[in-house]
Amino acid sequence: MAKKLSRIRSFAVLMLACGITAKNVSAQATPSLKEVFKNDFLIGTAMNTPQIEEKDAAADALIKQQFNAVTPENIMKAEIIQPGWDKYNFDEADKLVAYAQKNNIKVNAHTLIWHSQLPAFMRRIQSADSVKKYFENHITTVAGRYDGKVYSWDVVNEALNEDGTLRKSVFLDKLGDNYIVEAFRLAQKAAPHTKLYYNDYNIEQPKKRAGAIAIIKKIQAAGVRIDGVGIQGHWKAGSVPLKDIEESIKTFSALGIEVMFTELDLTVLPNPWDNTTAEVSATAKSSKEMNPYAAGLPDSAQQTLTQSYADLFRLFRKYKKNISRVTFWGVNDGQSWLNGWPIPGRTNYPLLFDRDFKPKPAFFSVITTAKGQ
Ligand code: XIL
Repeated sequence: MAKKLSRIRSFAVLMLACGITAKNVSAQATPSLKEVFKNDFLIGTAMNTPQIEEKDAAADALIKQQFNAVTPENIMKAEIIQPGWDKYNFDEADKLVAYAQKNNIKVNAHTLIWHSQLPAFMRRIQSADSVKKYFENHITTVAGRYDGKVYSWDVVNEALNEDGTLRKSVFLDKLGDNYIVEAFRLAQKAAPHTKLYYNDYNIEQPKKRAGAIAIIKKIQAAGVRIDGVGIQGHWKAGSVPLKDIEESIKTFSALGIEVMFTELDLTVLPNPWDNTTAEVSATAKSSKEMNPYAAGLPDSAQQTLTQSYADLFRLFRKYKKNISRVTFWGVNDGQSWLNGWPIPGRTNYPLLFDRDFKPKPAFFSVITTAKGQ
C-alpha cells in the first residue's frame, strides 16, 4: 500500500515536472489537426452563427485547438449580407473577421455569386440592367470591404450542371455566359490582396470536371486572376470516389492553381436518389428507413467512416504540394447540415467529432495518416 502510494506520488511529481496537471491532461492527449498537418495544408471548419458570436464555448475551444482556417457556413451569403437593394448587413461578417484575427485563423469568405440563398429582392429583379447593377455592386462592395481582412473568396459557387454545361441561373440568363469571368474581374479589382477561387460539388467527376477546367481556362485566357479551385467534398462513407479525386488534383494543379477540399463531410445515411448532389434546394420526405441510426452508429458503419477518412487523407497527403486547404463542413456531427438536408430531422455522423465534441475513431485514423501510415 505504502509502495503504491509512493508510486502515485512520484507519478504526480513527474507530471508536474512536465507541466501536466489534471486539468490539461485531456487536452494534451488529443492531437491537433492543424499541428499535425501544419507542413501539408491548412485545416478548416465551417462556422455557424452561435460559434461566430462566441456563444458555443465547447465549439470555441475545439476550433482554437484544431483549426487554422474557417469558412462562414451562411453569414456571408447574399441573402444575409445584402438583404435589401444596397442595404448591407455586415455585423456577423465583421464579428467573424475579428474572431479570426484574434485567434490567428484564416478566413475563406463564402460566397459572392451563387444561385442559392439569394435575397428575395434579387429574385424578383426582371431587367438585365438591374441584375448587372446588383452583380457589380454586390461584388465590389462586399469583396472591397473585406480585402486584406479575409484570406480568400469563393467568388463563384456551383455554376455547373453535372454534364459540365453552365447551370441555368439568373446570372446566366441575364448576363450571358461571360458572367463568371466578369465576377472574377470585379473581385480582382475590389480585392487585390485576396485569393480568388471557383468552388463547386462533384467537380471531381469527369464531365463536371471538364466544365470546371473550361471555366478556369476561360478566366485565365481573359487575363483575369484565379488562384484556386475548391472541390466541396460532400461524399458518402464507403464510396468516396478516390480515383476521380486523384485525377482531379492532378489536372487542376496542371492549370497552375491551388486545389482545395472546401466542405468535406461523409454522410453515413441512405441517399434518397441514385445520383449524388449537394444542391441545397433538392429535398426529400423523411421516413424511418431513411434515418436508420437515430439511436447510435453501429460499429460496422463507424468502421466504414473511419476507413474512408483514412483513405482520403492518405491521398491528400500524397498530393500535399498541390493541396492548400482541407475544410470540414461543420465542427461536430450534431452541427452538420446533413442532419437536416436533404431530408429533415435525421441523425447523421459525417464529421471527425461527435455530438459531445469528442474525437471519433475517424479523427484518429486521419491523424495517423500524417505519420505516413
Ligand atoms: C449549406 C449550409 O450548411 C446550410 O446551413 C444552409 O441551410 C444551406 O447551405 N454547398 C455550399 C454551402 O456551397 O454553402 C452549403 O451550405 C452546402 C452545399
